[in-house]
Amino acid sequence: MAEIQIVDLKEDSCRFLLSDASESLANSIRRAMISRVPTMAVDFIDIYMNTSSMYDEVLAHRIGQIPLKTDLEKYNLREECVCKGEGCPSCQVSLRLNVEGPRIVYSGDFISDDPDVVPAYDNIPIVKLKEGQQLMLEATARLGFGKEHSKFQPVVACGYRIVPEITIAENCTSCMECVRSCPRNVFSSDDGKVSVKNILECSLCMECVKVCEEDAVKINEDTGKFVFYFEVDGSMSPETVLREALNFLKSRFTELAEMVEDLS
Ligand code: F3S
Repeated sequence: MAEIQIVDLKEDSCRFLLSDASESLANSIRRAMISRVPTMAVDFIDIYMNTSSMYDEVLAHRIGQIPLKTDLEKYNLREECVCKGEGCPSCQVSLRLNVEGPRIVYSGDFISDDPDVVPAYDNIPIVKLKEGQQLMLEATARLGFGKEHSKFQPVVACGYRIVPEITIAENCTSCMECVRSCPRNVFSSDDGKVSVKNILECSLCMECVKVCEEDAVKINEDTGKFVFYFEVDGSMSPETVLREALNFLKSRFTELAEMVEDLS
Protein backbone atom coordinates (compact mmCIF):
# COMPACT_ATOMS: atom_id res chain seq x y z
CA MET A 1 0.00 0.00 0.00
CA ALA A 2 1.22 3.47 -0.86
CA GLU A 3 2.71 5.46 2.01
CA ILE A 4 3.36 9.15 2.62
CA GLN A 5 6.15 10.48 4.79
CA ILE A 6 6.51 14.21 5.47
CA VAL A 7 10.13 15.23 4.93
CA ASP A 8 9.91 18.96 5.51
CA LEU A 9 6.93 21.01 6.65
CA LYS A 10 6.90 24.81 6.78
CA GLU A 11 4.13 27.36 7.20
CA ASP A 12 3.76 27.79 3.45
CA SER A 13 5.39 24.71 1.88
CA CYS A 14 5.79 20.98 2.27
CA ARG A 15 8.06 18.26 0.95
CA PHE A 16 6.91 14.66 1.27
CA LEU A 17 7.93 11.23 0.08
CA LEU A 18 5.41 8.95 -1.59
CA SER A 19 6.47 5.29 -1.58
CA ASP A 20 5.06 2.10 -3.06
CA ALA A 21 3.14 4.04 -5.67
CA SER A 22 2.71 4.19 -9.44
CA GLU A 23 3.42 7.31 -11.46
CA SER A 24 -0.31 7.62 -12.21
CA LEU A 25 -1.11 7.77 -8.48
CA ALA A 26 1.61 10.39 -7.98
CA ASN A 27 0.14 12.47 -10.78
CA SER A 28 -3.39 12.06 -9.39
CA ILE A 29 -2.25 13.47 -6.05
CA ARG A 30 -0.59 16.41 -7.80
CA ARG A 31 -3.71 17.13 -9.85
CA ALA A 32 -6.02 16.78 -6.83
CA MET A 33 -3.98 19.34 -4.89
CA ILE A 34 -4.16 21.80 -7.79
CA SER A 35 -7.75 21.39 -8.86
CA ARG A 36 -9.86 19.54 -6.28
CA VAL A 37 -9.35 21.30 -2.97
CA PRO A 38 -12.15 23.82 -2.23
CA THR A 39 -10.71 27.32 -1.80
CA MET A 40 -12.24 30.76 -1.14
CA ALA A 41 -11.90 33.48 -3.77
CA VAL A 42 -13.83 36.54 -4.86
CA ASP A 43 -16.29 35.51 -7.57
CA PHE A 44 -18.60 38.49 -7.93
CA ILE A 45 -18.05 42.23 -7.57
CA ASP A 46 -20.43 45.20 -7.41
CA ILE A 47 -18.41 48.28 -8.36
CA TYR A 48 -20.18 51.42 -7.07
CA MET A 49 -17.42 53.87 -7.90
CA ASN A 50 -14.21 53.47 -9.89
CA THR A 51 -12.54 56.68 -11.00
CA SER A 52 -9.08 55.05 -11.07
CA SER A 53 -7.18 54.54 -14.33
CA MET A 54 -7.95 50.81 -14.27
CA TYR A 55 -10.93 49.30 -16.11
CA ASP A 56 -13.58 47.58 -13.97
CA GLU A 57 -12.89 44.21 -15.66
CA VAL A 58 -9.14 44.32 -15.00
CA LEU A 59 -9.76 45.41 -11.42
CA ALA A 60 -12.24 42.55 -10.88
CA HIS A 61 -9.78 40.02 -12.31
CA ARG A 62 -7.02 41.34 -10.06
CA ILE A 63 -9.20 41.16 -6.94
CA GLY A 64 -10.27 37.60 -7.84
CA GLN A 65 -6.62 36.50 -7.71
CA ILE A 66 -6.07 37.71 -4.13
CA PRO A 67 -5.74 34.62 -1.88
CA LEU A 68 -8.28 34.59 0.94
CA LYS A 69 -7.99 32.71 4.24
CA THR A 70 -10.22 29.66 3.86
CA ASP A 71 -12.08 27.87 6.65
CA LEU A 72 -13.44 24.64 5.21
CA GLU A 73 -15.36 23.80 8.40
CA LYS A 74 -17.38 27.00 8.27
CA TYR A 75 -18.52 27.32 4.65
CA ASN A 76 -20.44 25.07 2.26
CA LEU A 77 -19.90 24.74 -1.43
CA ARG A 78 -22.62 26.92 -2.92
CA GLU A 79 -24.14 24.06 -4.93
CA GLU A 80 -24.38 21.91 -1.76
CA CYS A 81 -25.67 24.68 0.52
CA VAL A 82 -29.11 24.81 2.16
CA CYS A 83 -29.83 27.94 0.09
CA LYS A 84 -29.59 25.74 -3.05
CA GLY A 85 -27.05 28.01 -4.70
CA GLU A 86 -28.89 31.31 -4.07
CA GLY A 87 -26.07 32.60 -1.84
CA CYS A 88 -26.32 32.91 1.95
CA PRO A 89 -23.98 33.45 4.95
CA SER A 90 -23.23 29.70 4.99
CA CYS A 91 -21.72 29.71 1.51
CA GLN A 92 -20.51 33.23 0.77
CA VAL A 93 -18.95 36.23 2.43
CA SER A 94 -18.84 39.94 1.52
CA LEU A 95 -15.71 42.09 1.53
CA ARG A 96 -16.00 45.85 1.11
CA LEU A 97 -13.50 48.41 -0.13
CA ASN A 98 -13.82 52.20 0.00
CA VAL A 99 -10.60 54.13 -0.58
CA GLU A 100 -9.85 57.64 -1.80
CA GLY A 101 -6.61 58.82 -3.39
CA PRO A 102 -3.87 59.79 -3.41
CA ARG A 103 -2.55 56.40 -2.31
CA ILE A 104 -2.07 52.77 -3.34
CA VAL A 105 -5.00 50.44 -2.57
CA TYR A 106 -3.81 47.23 -0.93
CA SER A 107 -5.50 43.89 -0.20
CA GLY A 108 -5.36 44.83 3.50
CA ASP A 109 -7.87 47.65 2.83
CA PHE A 110 -10.73 45.16 2.44
CA ILE A 111 -13.20 45.00 5.33
CA SER A 112 -14.67 41.52 5.55
CA ASP A 113 -17.99 40.46 7.09
CA ASP A 114 -16.11 37.46 8.52
CA PRO A 115 -12.78 38.12 10.27
CA ASP A 116 -11.77 34.53 9.40
CA VAL A 117 -12.11 35.20 5.66
CA VAL A 118 -9.66 38.00 4.87
CA PRO A 119 -6.83 38.41 2.33
CA ALA A 120 -3.97 36.04 3.22
CA TYR A 121 -1.53 38.95 2.78
CA ASP A 122 -2.24 42.63 3.50
CA ASN A 123 0.39 44.03 1.15
CA ILE A 124 -0.84 42.97 -2.30
CA PRO A 125 -1.18 46.18 -4.38
CA ILE A 126 -4.45 46.49 -6.30
CA VAL A 127 -4.38 49.94 -7.92
CA LYS A 128 -2.75 53.33 -7.47
CA LEU A 129 -5.21 56.20 -6.93
CA LYS A 130 -4.36 59.81 -7.73
CA GLU A 131 -5.70 62.86 -5.88
CA GLY A 132 -9.51 62.91 -6.21
CA GLN A 133 -9.83 59.29 -7.46
CA GLN A 134 -11.98 56.83 -5.53
CA LEU A 135 -12.68 53.11 -5.44
CA MET A 136 -15.83 51.82 -3.78
CA LEU A 137 -16.95 48.22 -4.25
CA GLU A 138 -18.37 45.13 -2.61
CA ALA A 139 -16.87 41.74 -3.43
CA THR A 140 -18.50 38.37 -2.80
CA ALA A 141 -16.28 35.38 -2.10
CA ARG A 142 -17.26 31.72 -2.25
CA LEU A 143 -15.65 28.30 -2.26
CA GLY A 144 -14.63 26.93 -5.64
CA PHE A 145 -12.21 24.49 -7.25
CA GLY A 146 -9.03 25.03 -9.23
CA LYS A 147 -10.62 23.07 -12.09
CA GLU A 148 -13.04 26.03 -12.55
CA HIS A 149 -10.49 28.84 -12.35
CA SER A 150 -6.91 29.31 -11.15
CA LYS A 151 -8.10 31.79 -8.47
CA PHE A 152 -9.52 28.78 -6.59
CA GLN A 153 -6.15 26.94 -6.53
CA PRO A 154 -4.69 26.73 -3.02
CA VAL A 155 -1.20 25.93 -4.34
CA VAL A 156 1.15 28.21 -6.27
CA ALA A 157 3.66 25.47 -7.09
CA CYS A 158 3.18 21.73 -7.00
CA GLY A 159 5.33 19.02 -8.54
CA TYR A 160 7.14 15.76 -7.96
CA ARG A 161 10.25 13.87 -9.07
CA ILE A 162 11.07 10.19 -9.22
CA VAL A 163 13.38 9.11 -6.39
CA PRO A 164 15.85 6.70 -8.01
CA GLU A 165 18.03 4.04 -6.47
CA ILE A 166 21.75 4.61 -7.09
CA THR A 167 24.28 1.83 -6.61
CA ILE A 168 28.04 2.04 -6.88
CA ALA A 169 29.49 -1.20 -8.28
CA GLU A 170 32.53 -2.95 -6.80
CA ASN A 171 34.76 -1.92 -9.71
CA CYS A 172 34.55 1.76 -8.57
CA THR A 173 38.11 3.16 -8.43
CA SER A 174 37.08 6.11 -6.18
CA CYS A 175 38.22 8.60 -8.81
CA MET A 176 35.52 10.97 -7.42
CA GLU A 177 34.46 12.14 -10.90
CA CYS A 178 30.82 11.38 -10.07
CA VAL A 179 31.07 13.39 -6.82
CA ARG A 180 32.57 16.36 -8.66
CA SER A 181 30.14 16.28 -11.59
CA CYS A 182 26.93 15.96 -9.56
CA PRO A 183 25.21 19.39 -9.55
CA ARG A 184 23.02 18.53 -6.56
CA ASN A 185 25.48 17.18 -4.06
CA VAL A 186 23.94 13.71 -3.96
CA PHE A 187 27.18 11.84 -3.21
CA SER A 188 29.52 11.88 -0.29
CA SER A 189 33.21 11.04 -0.47
CA ASP A 190 33.88 10.39 3.21
CA ASP A 191 36.77 7.99 3.95
CA GLY A 192 37.82 8.20 0.29
CA LYS A 193 34.84 6.06 -0.74
CA VAL A 194 31.87 7.15 -2.81
CA SER A 195 28.46 6.76 -1.22
CA VAL A 196 24.97 8.18 -1.78
CA LYS A 197 24.03 10.62 0.97
CA ASN A 198 21.16 12.68 -0.40
CA ILE A 199 19.08 10.66 -2.80
CA LEU A 200 16.03 12.97 -2.57
CA GLU A 201 18.05 15.71 -4.30
CA CYS A 202 18.80 13.64 -7.42
CA SER A 203 17.27 15.21 -10.54
CA LEU A 204 18.23 12.30 -12.82
CA CYS A 205 20.55 14.48 -14.91
CA MET A 206 22.74 11.35 -15.48
CA GLU A 207 26.00 13.32 -15.30
CA CYS A 208 27.42 10.82 -12.77
CA VAL A 209 26.74 7.93 -15.16
CA LYS A 210 28.27 9.80 -18.11
CA VAL A 211 31.53 10.69 -16.36
CA CYS A 212 32.18 7.28 -14.81
CA GLU A 213 34.76 5.55 -17.04
CA GLU A 214 34.36 2.26 -15.16
CA ASP A 215 30.59 2.23 -15.69
CA ALA A 216 30.27 1.75 -11.92
CA VAL A 217 27.34 4.11 -11.26
CA LYS A 218 23.98 2.42 -11.84
CA ILE A 219 20.68 4.26 -11.60
CA ASN A 220 17.33 2.49 -11.25
CA GLU A 221 14.37 4.78 -11.86
CA ASP A 222 11.69 2.16 -11.27
CA THR A 223 11.50 2.39 -7.48
CA GLY A 224 7.86 3.46 -6.94
CA LYS A 225 9.12 6.41 -4.90
CA PHE A 226 8.40 10.08 -5.58
CA VAL A 227 9.39 13.24 -3.78
CA PHE A 228 6.78 15.99 -3.85
CA TYR A 229 7.22 19.68 -3.21
CA PHE A 230 4.39 22.20 -3.04
CA GLU A 231 3.80 25.75 -1.85
CA VAL A 232 0.47 27.16 -0.71
CA ASP A 233 -0.87 30.64 -1.46
CA GLY A 234 -1.72 31.40 2.18
CA SER A 235 -5.40 30.42 1.92
CA MET A 236 -4.82 27.31 4.08
CA SER A 237 -2.01 25.27 5.56
CA PRO A 238 -0.03 22.72 3.51
CA GLU A 239 -1.36 19.91 5.76
CA THR A 240 -4.97 20.91 4.96
CA VAL A 241 -4.29 20.99 1.22
CA LEU A 242 -2.69 17.54 1.28
CA ARG A 243 -5.38 16.05 3.53
CA GLU A 244 -8.23 17.45 1.40
CA ALA A 245 -6.61 16.21 -1.83
CA LEU A 246 -6.18 12.71 -0.39
CA ASN A 247 -9.77 12.71 0.93
CA PHE A 248 -10.99 13.64 -2.54
CA LEU A 249 -9.02 10.78 -4.14
CA LYS A 250 -10.20 8.34 -1.49
CA SER A 251 -13.85 9.16 -2.15
CA ARG A 252 -13.29 8.88 -5.92
CA PHE A 253 -11.56 5.50 -5.62
CA THR A 254 -14.33 4.22 -3.33
CA GLU A 255 -16.94 5.34 -5.86
CA LEU A 256 -15.04 3.60 -8.65
CA ALA A 257 -14.72 0.38 -6.65
CA GLU A 258 -18.49 0.39 -6.01
CA MET A 259 -19.21 0.93 -9.68
CA VAL A 260 -16.95 -1.97 -10.65
CA GLU A 261 -18.64 -4.17 -8.03
CA ASP A 262 -22.06 -3.31 -9.44
CA LEU A 263 -20.92 -4.49 -12.85
CA SER A 264 -20.06 -7.99 -11.67
FE1 F3S B 1 21.53 12.47 -9.75
FE2 F3S B 1 23.82 11.69 -10.71
FE3 F3S B 1 22.71 13.91 -11.59
S1 F3S B 1 23.18 11.57 -8.62
S2 F3S B 1 21.59 14.67 -9.85
S3 F3S B 1 21.91 11.82 -11.80
S4 F3S B 1 24.88 13.56 -11.20
